[in-house]
Amino acid sequence: MYNKENFKIKETPIILGIESSCDETAAAVIFGRKLLSSEIISSATEQAKYGGVVPEIASRAHTDAVDEVVRRALKSADITANQLDGVAVTYGAGLLGALLVGLSFAKGLAYSLNIPLIAVNHIRGHLAAAYLVDEDLKPPFITLLASGGHTAILHTKSYTQFEVLGGTCDDAAGEAFDKVARVLGLPYPGGVNVERLARSGQNTVKLPPSLVRNSTRMQFSYSGLKTAVINAVHNAEQRGEAVSREDIACSFQHAAVDSLVKKTVECALARGINTVTAGGGVIANGYLRDTLTKACQKARLKCILPEKKFCTDNAAMIAAEGLTQYLAGNFAQMSLNATAQIPLG
Ligand code: KG4
Ligand code: ZN
Repeated sequence: MYNKENFKIKETPIILGIESSCDETAAAVIFGRKLLSSEIISSATEQAKYGGVVPEIASRAHTDAVDEVVRRALKSADITANQLDGVAVTYGAGLLGALLVGLSFAKGLAYSLNIPLIAVNHIRGHLAAAYLVDEDLKPPFITLLASGGHTAILHTKSYTQFEVLGGTCDDAAGEAFDKVARVLGLPYPGGVNVERLARSGQNTVKLPPSLVRNSTRMQFSYSGLKTAVINAVHNAEQRGEAVSREDIACSFQHAAVDSLVKKTVECALARGINTVTAGGGVIANGYLRDTLTKACQKARLKCILPEKKFCTDNAAMIAAEGLTQYLAGNFAQMSLNATAQIPLG
């Protein structure tokens, strides 16, 4: 009989991570904090035909890919399933049908091997990606989180506790990148294409910053910035003026990123914390990475950025957060269900 109370905690476990919350089916293996393998099968090219993620297509793609991606992860890690000490899986937030594919697979595996099933919150996974960069990284630290669904600055106080210092009052930064990509006629996935276009542009278009002024809380806003980009494009078209899409992309990138970086560094200094980490798809942005790295250097803060491929959705980060939960003895029941939304904090 599967009973989560019976499992003993090993100091350095081998954990399989499984991720299927959106359009990437991913599996990864870690041994302690050492990453042994990370595999992804993506349906992004298929989704691009529709200009975004179609949930039904995502669920079907996960069903086709999950067995294969797990096999690949075990093979590249050079281990067999019997050597696993736990299976960590994203149970939310995300597309319900998509989540259920990874979750059902993880349950079956954990049950048949009689090892702990570990429920991972996708966003905590993004935050945990930093642990794979530096094996000695320990809280406290300040984290800049910027993904398709979230934008926040967090104070990570312990492995399992964090305080939200500020966030967005409307769209997330990644969402804004995706919407601006559409306005500029760029294909899905938007963020990386805005970044490419911005490389040959100049920061010459006047746009509002993403920081809300006169707010008692630290708040970001992306919907006003997005509207300003739409207006800049339309006004130029109406006046029959040539509009440089490159300059708009570059100016948007500055407006979207600069306040986030500035505030992250300010939070670290104000709280006397000397380490800054970051996570989420937008952290794959080269301009953000350079700006944050330089700002941290200037403020004499240690800056820990996951590799780009571990900023966007992957299973290594799920395994990393799985390790934290495993060591805390937080094991899930077989009745664990998928959840479309989980509040931050
Ligand atoms: O973390 P993620 O892969 O999925 C979520 O959990 O949301 O983040 C996806 C978001 C998308 O909005 C995408 O446009 C953005 O991250 N993104 C980028 C870049 N790569 C991905 N935004 C800006 N520059 C990039 N290079
Ligand atoms: Zn994500």
